[in-house]
Amino acid sequence: MDLQLSEEHQMIRDAARDFAQNEIAKVAAHYDESGEFPYETVKKMGNLGFMGIEVPEEYGGAGLDALAYVLALEEINKVDAAHGTIMSVNNSLYCYGILRFGTEEQKQRYVTPVASGQKTGAYSLTEPMSGSDAATMKSHAVREGDYYVINGTKSWVTSGPAAHLILVFIMTDPERGHRGITAFLVENDKPGFHLGRKEDKLGIRASATSEIHFEDYRCPVEARLGEEGEGFKIAMTVLDAGRIGIAAQSLGIAEAAYEASLQYAREREAFGGPIGRFQGIQWKIADMKCRIEASRLLMYQAALAKEASKKSGARFTTEASIAKLYASETAMFCAHQAVQIHAGMGYSKELPVERYFRDAKITEIYEGTSEIQRMVIARNELGLR
Ligand code: CAA
Repeated sequence: MDLQLSEEHQMIRDAARDFAQNEIAKVAAHYDESGEFPYETVKKMGNLGFMGIEVPEEYGGAGLDALAYVLALEEINKVDAAHGTIMSVNNSLYCYGILRFGTEEQKQRYVTPVASGQKTGAYSLTEPMSGSDAATMKSHAVREGDYYVINGTKSWVTSGPAAHLILVFIMTDPERGHRGITAFLVENDKPGFHLGRKEDKLGIRASATSEIHFEDYRCPVEARLGEEGEGFKIAMTVLDAGRIGIAAQSLGIAEAAYEASLQYAREREAFGGPIGRFQGIQWKIADMKCRIEASRLLMYQAALAKEASKKSGARFTTEASIAKLYASETAMFCAHQAVQIHAGMGYSKELPVERYFRDAKITEIYEGTSEIQRMVIARNELGLR
């Protein structure tokens, strides 16, 4: 693996770092507290190309590669994971799926406004009674001429309240199980689309999450992504890409927690000098650093596998799940250690350390829990299904 970043990769990383430090850092605590969607900063991210990094320029994106995407995402998340979540859903759960499975017309109509940041995209697989076991969904669509009539409730839709366009997975033939699921592109301003309850969350509070209700929503056949029955495979392929984004998010949170801890260990004094002199603190620092560097390599490996798959079509499921699993547990570990090193100050809202702790938890849950990642890795290694 070539770990030398090209000039282009360094440039996008530095641009994301500058933006995060200059524009996001000053508003992160406010949006975390209020739980409002940060429309203004998200718009600026769109103007800079961060909302469609891997999307070709002809469809409104920045036309960069999978490594550029994770480098930028890591920097945004290092400052605020809520902005990172919005960016990640837009790029990998929404744009990637349409670029990979959409027709030319669909790419132009559904990717261009979202990759350029004029509109926001989302992804919707989960339902109130269908989470990890994603194939058990109940929402259904019935074809009537040139339309599908969609009814049902989807839940835990990240960016749901803000999204104009959503890639949604609906059952079209319940008798065929996962092979009866179909993907659709739905629009939030059409009759039959209703926003449901907005979740009040522990972390990533500014990345609005909600239910969506469909009541006789009429989706034109041209807005079906792929063929009937291909939805589950599309959902899983897109999640492979999404999980690399969560690895980048986790790495960003872990680094933020680590850097805060380093600074605190140098400055905070106890028993006659800085607490970094104590072995109890040094071991935490060493363990955080090792896990962060290992997560970075796994993230690079997964991003390179994803990039290679654009030509070969090969799956990168295992690489993505390994990177997501390891990095998300690293984020939680580092955030936990950071609170402990900061002690009372880590528990106070005066510093962002408590936010890192709250934000880290979701990385072990969404886009497949750690238990699901272990299952995916083991099944693939064992050659099981
Ligand atoms: N890529 C392509 N195809 C895949 C695939 C992948 N990564 N994984 C599975 N498939 C295919 C299989 O080859 C199989 O194909 P056939 O039709 O030929 O049989 C089919 O999908 C079914 O596969 P499985 O038998 O393995 O399916 P399963 O029912 O046992 O489930 C699972 C597998 C891995 C547990 C899957 O259900 C899963 O990933 N669950 C977690 C769902 C998840 O991550 N949800 C989060 C949603 S997004 C979110 O969090 C909110 C948000 O907005 C960000």
